[in-house]
Amino acid sequence: MTVGVVAFATAAALNTVPATAGKPYDPTTQSLAKLGLRHGLQIGTAVDMAALNDASEPQYRKIVATEFSSVTAENVMKWESLEPTRGNYNWGPADQLVDFAKRNRQSVRGHVLVWQNQLPTWLTSGVADGSISRQELRELLRKHITTVVSRYQGKISQWDVINEAVSDPWDNPPTLHYKGFWAQHLGPDYIADAFRWARAADPKALLFYNDYNIEAFGSGDPADDKTQFVYDMAKRLLAQRVPIDGIGSQGHLGTQYGNYDTLQVAAALKKFGALGLVTAFTEVDVRSQLTEAVQAGDEAEINPRLQASAANFSVLLKACLAVRSCLSYTVWGFSDKYSWVPSWFNDPPEGLATIYDENFQPKRAYYEIKSDLIFAGPPYVLPRIAPKPRR
Ligand code: G3I
Repeated sequence: MTVGVVAFATAAALNTVPATAGKPYDPTTQSLAKLGLRHGLQIGTAVDMAALNDASEPQYRKIVATEFSSVTAENVMKWESLEPTRGNYNWGPADQLVDFAKRNRQSVRGHVLVWQNQLPTWLTSGVADGSISRQELRELLRKHITTVVSRYQGKISQWDVINEAVSDPWDNPPTLHYKGFWAQHLGPDYIADAFRWARAADPKALLFYNDYNIEAFGSGDPADDKTQFVYDMAKRLLAQRVPIDGIGSQGHLGTQYGNYDTLQVAAALKKFGALGLVTAFTEVDVRSQLTEAVQAGDEAEINPRLQASAANFSVLLKACLAVRSCLSYTVWGFSDKYSWVPSWFNDPPEGLATIYDENFQPKRAYYEIKSDLIFAGPPYVLPRIAPKPRR
């Protein structure tokens, strides 16, 4: 239903200038969601359910409802939230988000079915103490995927089926490999299994592999180029007729790294697209180091960070706009008040990672991505392709 409404709105809105009763059309007053629709592009945000439900935070709720056409659960669809004790499901917060999205005609990205973090303790400790065997673990994973995907069948447009399964060059050993709990206990075949189980439970949701540090290709050697490793993995899965539909590039960037230019990022999206996969930016944020001067409010240190952050948000969005198989652009929280960054990166402290400040005022990054959506158009930026879920 939601998908249908969005599809209709998309067809109506693509590359047309809305007619208004005599008033000149002013795109700067439009939401990111509306401007994205001109290109058939979903603009999404991760949602913190505690903030969404906080009666003293009406602005949070309002911005989620009005600025975005897609929502992702920041935490409440993770296994530890959904099944905190074995066999007892806590669907409340996840259901609430899905209902909220329906009321606001938004799509939902499902995050996440298989990940090594935020697993329930009963599962990890059962494996650690040997009371859950390898065979039972595989069956538990099948049941988890089947139960969750079936519950939201038809209500979720894109599922992150597998999240962050590949190591980084800074890990030990540095040669890229499948990492974490699932690879360790089930071997890498769990990846193909998970996609097949997810497809069996929902014939229409687009099924994604989602990861960070895959925004651009590097050396081309899968031993140290994570994007190449993921590309080779996807190609192999497709050759095995595994129903993978898309690659989610998270887009967690930091201004201290310099990062990428638009053409590099667009080239990576195109290369995944050439495999017949769709793509998406799924968790974009661009953090900065909070030096003492930044913390003291020194504009000369704050301004370049805000500008660099805006530029990086823009690079990823422009690349996405330029590649027709890039279907959505999601920010990982929209306000610095609720960003995961400061609690995660504290030595040195980092922050300023989102598009609104702590008082819900739009930052430079907000205006920059808004202007990208306004100025983009044919012949270089064309509407999104119509995706076909793989059987
Ligand atoms: O649930 C408890 C709550 O009861 C308690 O009051 C609170 C006190 O700190 O902690 C709560 O749990 C925290 C949870 O977020 C919910 O707020 C955890 O400590 C904290 O570790 C957890 O962090 C999340 C992180 O994933 C965990 O790995 C972040 O919010 C979330 O933004 C982050 O998201 C991940 C994506 O899923 C995958 N890609 C990377 C991204 C950023 O790390």
